[in-house]
Amino acid sequence: MISKTILICIGTALLFAVLSMESVDAQEWNDGDGGKIKWQFECDFPGNDIRNEKIPGEQCGSLCINTNGCSHFSYFHGVCYLKKVPNGTPRQPAAGGLCGFITGSGPIGGGGVKGTYWAEQSDAGGCQMPQGDYAVTDAIALGQSQELGNLKWRQGLCGQVLRVDCGNGAIEAVVASTCNLNSGSCGVDMIGKTWRKATSNKPPGIVDCSVSLTNRNPLQGNDALCYYRPNSEINNNYYAILGVVNTGGRISSSAVASGVTGRRNNDGWFEFNGSGKPLFTKDAQVVFRYEDGSSTSFRLRDCRIAGQVQIFK
Ligand SMILES: *[C@@H]1O[C@H](CO)[C@@H](O)[C@H](O)[C@H]1NC(C)=O
Repeated sequence: MISKTILICIGTALLFAVLSMESVDAQEWNDGDGGKIKWQFECDFPGNDIRNEKIPGEQCGSLCINTNGCSHFSYFHGVCYLKKVPNGTPRQPAAGGLCGFITGSGPIGGGGVKGTYWAEQSDAGGCQMPQGDYAVTDAIALGQSQELGNLKWRQGLCGQVLRVDCGNGAIEAVVASTCNLNSGSCGVDMIGKTWRKATSNKPPGIVDCSVSLTNRNPLQGNDALCYYRPNSEINNNYYAILGVVNTGGRISSSAVASGVTGRRNNDGWFEFNGSGKPLFTKDAQVVFRYEDGSSTSFRLRDCRIAGQVQIFK
């Protein structure tokens, strides 16, 4: 069964590719076949072939839809390659063809995430990550563009390690800040060295990336760590600002200290106000809850003192 939508869509696209004959740096996935597939030029998902068939390019997406097990496809020189590719696999740049996937089986976050150059180094705002011994030193500011899917910035994503692939191999980077919240205009905004690795030294501009969450810890060590927010008071029993890092990819959603629910700031840290009661002694307990329903608890005496905000450069 061949859908008219994809036939017209890919047909027109192929004609354009033939006529333009120059390298098209595809930025976004195009919708095809009534939203059932996404596709773009100049890319491939190498390997993982089920089989291939010599058919017109406009039939390749619908053949994948109608082939058991097919999740991805590519089309080169008159041949349609049907593939079964693991979820979240980024596309590779490849001259002269096109690639696509069945919606829902493509790069996590949908691919098509806008990657941009932020600055040579991060600043003291944003997520206010604590100073420490970082195992991951690449860094990004995370936005809220639609293409990020479930990785649109929310407080619990501060300090998470994301895998960012802009077609030159995946980089793992700490979410150190936010960019253009409440607008769809920012995807991942990279510090200088991260941008250069992700783009093979392109000058600052816009690249197309796929983004996924890892369970890697940003700081050395395997255990979750409680921290006092950098530059916050550490000996005030009436008031404390605390956060959790090294969560192994778990996204924190709430926190309670001595029965007081933390008020969450946009930097991801939780403010606890005893409202006149000295509740936050060194023996007090703080419990961080994660989106997956699990939790970690600490005594305040075990919460680390961060010093200043970590600057990634
Ligand atoms: C803590 O709460 C009290 C009211 O219960 C309020 O007056 C005070 O300003 C709060 N402190 C901070 C730092 O928010």
